[in-house]
Amino acid sequence: MNFIDLRNYNKETLENILNRSGAIKTGSLDAQGALKNKNIGLLFASASTRTRVSFEVGINRMGGNPIYLRTADLQLSNHESFKDTASVLGRYLDGIVIRMYDMEKYGWGRATQEIFAKYAGIPVINGLDDQDHPCQVMADLLTLKEKFNNNITDKKILFTWAFAERQKSPGVPHSMLTAASTLGMDITFAYPEGFELDERYVQSAKAAMAVSGGKLSFSNNLMEASQGADVIYAKSWKALSKTKEEDKALRGQYRDTWRISDKHFLEANRNALFMNCLPIIRGEQATKEVIDRPDSILYDEAENRLYAQQGVLSYLFEDDTEKAAKVNIWNTVDSMNGAGVV
Ligand code: CP
Repeated sequence: MNFIDLRNYNKETLENILNRSGAIKTGSLDAQGALKNKNIGLLFASASTRTRVSFEVGINRMGGNPIYLRTADLQLSNHESFKDTASVLGRYLDGIVIRMYDMEKYGWGRATQEIFAKYAGIPVINGLDDQDHPCQVMADLLTLKEKFNNNITDKKILFTWAFAERQKSPGVPHSMLTAASTLGMDITFAYPEGFELDERYVQSAKAAMAVSGGKLSFSNNLMEASQGADVIYAKSWKALSKTKEEDKALRGQYRDTWRISDKHFLEANRNALFMNCLPIIRGEQATKEVIDRPDSILYDEAENRLYAQQGVLSYLFEDDTEKAAKVNIWNTVDSMNGAGVV
């Protein structure tokens, strides 16, 4: 089982993972030892503070062994194929977290995750590709549940594009779109024209909303979309259908108008929360005042990466642990003897 794209998970499973995550955080679920004797690779092609460190610490806390693998240090850097790399690493490791994408080639990062899923034969966890960031969104949902006493479906969430110089993956908005729709939340996505989300995710979300009973809307008007919001989540992403240069020119037009400031919070509900997955540069995506306001919950989101990912790992490896416990190893040895293997 992999954890690459939240569209593959139903409401019960997402709730199950969130419950585990919360229980691990409060200590009511003991996950120590859940990864005993398991080696989990962390294959990263780009920089990371939160994803890498929270996985390393979380895997350690669960009794496993995290192995950080920089693509630049592997033979991938000498053009060894992803198929060969996945096939070989799958024979050493018990699971792998992958962060890999190229902002010039939308879909390439996802294809890479799928090659590993196909050839490594071990659970693949998406640590951010060009389409999804499921671990971040599970941490965000855990944070919202904590802040709203588990009632996240009756809160109005605004998830908005915001200006940043750096071109970033649309992974977080896509994963949030999927999760919010599956769980039946009330969410509005705001962005300037040209920054539309992947239509396949939008269609899938609309279908999920029809089942979950949530509310999904889209807006090109940030002030209007801020009205009555309980949460404003700001996140920049690259325009999917544009080249790097085209995107740069387009986003530059929105440098000042698509930056969250106090005036958006005046439109929002009192004590509305500010969210961002980090990293953030003060003055980009939001003003310094907004980023540092008392109701900014950025560090809580970051902290919850640790617990949400342990929840994911606990879910992915539970079957394996149970299966392993049921195997009668003495029968296996007998049959191996019989076959002349031992
Ligand atoms: N939010 C997030 O994924 O942070 P890092 O890039 O530091 O891992």
